[in-house]
This record gives sequence, structure tokens and C-alpha cells, in this order.
Amino acid sequence: MSDPAKPSASAGQTYLLGPQLYLRAPQESDFARSVAVRRSPFPASARQTETELREALAMDERARRIRLIACRTSDDEPVGLAHIDEGENWPAALVSLHAAPWPRSEEQRVKAEMLRLLAPWLMEERGAISVVVDFASDEAEPLAAADALGLRPAYIVREALWRDGVRRDQVFVQRLHPVWREKLGDPGAGIAAAAPPTAAPRAPAPLRRAASSAPLPPNTLVASERLALRPFAHRDMETIAQTFLREPEYRHEAGRTPSSPLALAQWADRMGEREPPESFSVAIVLRESGVVIGDCSLLAIDWVGRSAETGMWIYRPEHRSGGYGTEAKHLLLEYSFQRLGLHVVWSWVAEENDRSAAALLKQGYRPAGRLDWIEVGRGKFRSARLFDLLAEEWRAARR
Ligand SMILES: CC(C)(COP(=O)(O)OP(=O)(O)OC[C@H]1O[C@@H](n2cnc3c(N)ncnc32)[C@H](O)[C@@H]1OP(=O)(O)O)[C@@H](O)C(=O)NCCC(=O)NCCS
Repeated sequence: MSDPAKPSASAGQTYLLGPQLYLRAPQESDFARSVAVRRSPFPASARQTETELREALAMDERARRIRLIACRTSDDEPVGLAHIDEGENWPAALVSLHAAPWPRSEEQRVKAEMLRLLAPWLMEERGAISVVVDFASDEAEPLAAADALGLRPAYIVREALWRDGVRRDQVFVQRLHPVWREKLGDPGAGIAAAAPPTAAPRAPAPLRRAASSAPLPPNTLVASERLALRPFAHRDMETIAQTFLREPEYRHEAGRTPSSPLALAQWADRMGEREPPESFSVAIVLRESGVVIGDCSLLAIDWVGRSAETGMWIYRPEHRSGGYGTEAKHLLLEYSFQRLGLHVVWSWVAEENDRSAAALLKQGYRPAGRLDWIEVGRGKFRSARLFDLLAEEWRAARR
């Protein structure tokens, strides 16, 4: 209950203050407000919330992340969380907004007001050149606020969210700073790069696989004639670090960086630490020789919406462009759709990575749009192409 005699904690706050909400940094009293201050749909104790929040705050600064709690001005009650990822080498701001889910009628209003406070602050004060935020397709109020603030549809991941018993699209909107748009030329709304799904992809998953005479590597999760996916082992890490040092190409990503086998081993050891996991990677193994030729991953897994990002790396140039990536991807998709029950996957590709885009298209992914100026590098403002694929499309193409 609000006490009319008690001034709001926001009294005197000079920015990030709206008609009904204000945004502030996390504090101790938030530990007992897990529903508002965690993005997870699951309940959490105050002790767990404290552990998570303290760990996250220690990492946020290094990772160029900002975490803000939205509170009602009337009674200082936390009602939401804004999570902002600022680009490592470029002033882009990726914003994710969470509102306490109850009362249902408040959720959209809270998100809309958070966006009205954040978008001008990020652009005009913190110098963001690009602001990106996502909503469910039925969140009319925040989407209208985004439109009024000049954020345009960038890409859509179809049916990625589960809300009130219905599947909804996840809509990503983006605003490019008008001064920079004038200087660099307006690339237009990213959604213009979206296309309908391919009815008959060129390289669908086979419905049945021929029996293989090649040995099955121990610990196999899923296998095709030539390849198997299995968890990484410690012994793989030295080889992988050496392989990364011998990479002749650098244009498909931000640039090559030597990896330590010690760091890689720590990364591999953490696999399976949490269940269900938010992400995982597995090794792609050539069955004939047992050699690890790459890795593939599910990232940002949403176990309620049953969506995830897919990622893949084939380590050596001689193994690329020969179909191994597509064969391994179908193993990952078979595992994701048939065993884990995912509904949709999406993938993101640096704009100049034509080979990766070509591979996704032939596997059946659909162009979902584009995110502009998300990084800078090699004299260019780098954009990303987005793709999505529904489980039912993957299954239908198989037939
Ligand atoms: C992207 C990657 C995983 C794809 O795996 P792959 O085994 O090379 O893929 P595939 O051979 O199944 O398909 C690649 C397709 O791209 C085509 N291709 C190759 N270079 C291309 C180019 N510059 N432009 C357009 N298409 C190209 C290939 O010819 C092939 O098509 P085809 O079957 O019609 O001949 C792999 O190349 C890789 O790991 N690359 C380096 C890391 C990377 O980019 N990871 C992805 C980050 S999003």
C-alpha cells in the first residue's frame, strides 16, 4: 500500500523518470522481488536472486551491460527489468525488457514506458547509434511506443514466444540515429530483407539414413552416415586451439583470436552444469577417423517458447563448402526438433558471410530480416542477416 505522506524514492531523480515509473540500479531490497527483477518465468528464492544479481552485477561492467530496475513512482515497488547490452566495439544498444507478469493489464504499459525512458537516453545521452529491442507480436502498446519513437521493424522470428496459451512472433525493432543515418545513408528497415519460407529447400534432411559401416564414436548423441555429434572431451581442446591458430580466413567474423586450451577446457567442463541449459555446444566428429572437424550449438534456448539460436563452425577450410556443415546442421536440428521438442530455431550471420547464408538457405531456413550497424570493423559498418526455421517446415521438407 502506498503511503501518501512518504515521498517516492525517485524524488529529486533528474533522468530516467517517467509519469508512472522510474528506472534505477539494482539494490538489496530487490532480492525479495525475483518475479520483477529476473527475466526467468520460474520462481526463485531471495537467496538465489541475491546470488545471481551479485554475480551479474560483477560481470555487467566488464561485459558492457547495464541492468536497471523499473519501479512504480507511486509506491516504489519494482515492476520490471531493463537489460541493455552495449556493443563491444561500436555504440549499439541491444535492449531486452521484462515486466512483472501480474496484473496482466500492467505488463504492456510498463514495457512501453520503459522504452520511452530508455530509447532517447541511450541515443541522445549515451551515444548509441543503434537501439534494438524486441516484443511479442501481440504487445500492441509497446510496439506503438516503439513506432512513435522511430524504431522500425528489423526482423521477426516466427512463433518464437508462448504467451497466454498462444504462440506469438518475436518482433525485433531498431532505430538508427538520424544524424548517422544522414551521414551514412539510410539502409531502410531491415524487415525489407525478409522473405517467405522456401517451399522445397535444396538440401533437406533425409527422411531415413543409410546404415553406416563407419565406427560410431563413444558418447554419440546423434549420427548420420559420415558424422556424429558428441559432447566435447578434454583431449579435444589442445587440437582445437592449434586448429584455430591455423585458420587462414578472417572475414566471416570479427577477426581471429588465439584461444587457450585451458580456457577452452573450462568452457567444455561447464557443459551440462545447468539443466535445462541456456546453451550448449557439441563436437562434430568424422565417423571414419574420429577427428573433430567442428562444433555446433544451441544458444539462448527458451524452454517455454521452445526456440533457440543455432550456431556452427567447421574448423578447417578443406572441410568447408563440401556439405559437412549441412549434414551436421540436420543432425543438430533432428536433435532439437525430434528429441528436445523445440518449435523454431533462428540464426544470425554477419552480412558479408555469404557462405554461411547460402548454407542456411539450402537447409531450409527463411530470411527473417536484417539488423543494421550492429558492429564496426575493417572500415565498414557491419550488419547482420537473420534467418528462422520452424520445426514443421523442417519436417515437411524431409518428406
Ligand atoms: C558456415 C559453415 C558452418 C557452413 O558449413 P559448410 O560445410 O561450409 O556448408 P555447406 O558445404 O553445406 O554449404 C555451403 C554452401 O555455400 C556455398 N558457398 C561457398 N562459398 C560461398 C560464397 N562465397 N558465396 C556464396 N556461397 C558460397 C557452397 O558452395 C555451398 O553451397 P552448394 O552446396 O550449393 O555448393 C562453414 O563454412 C564454416 O564453419 N565457416 C566458417 C565459420 C562460419 O562462418 N561460421 C558461421 C558463423 S554464422
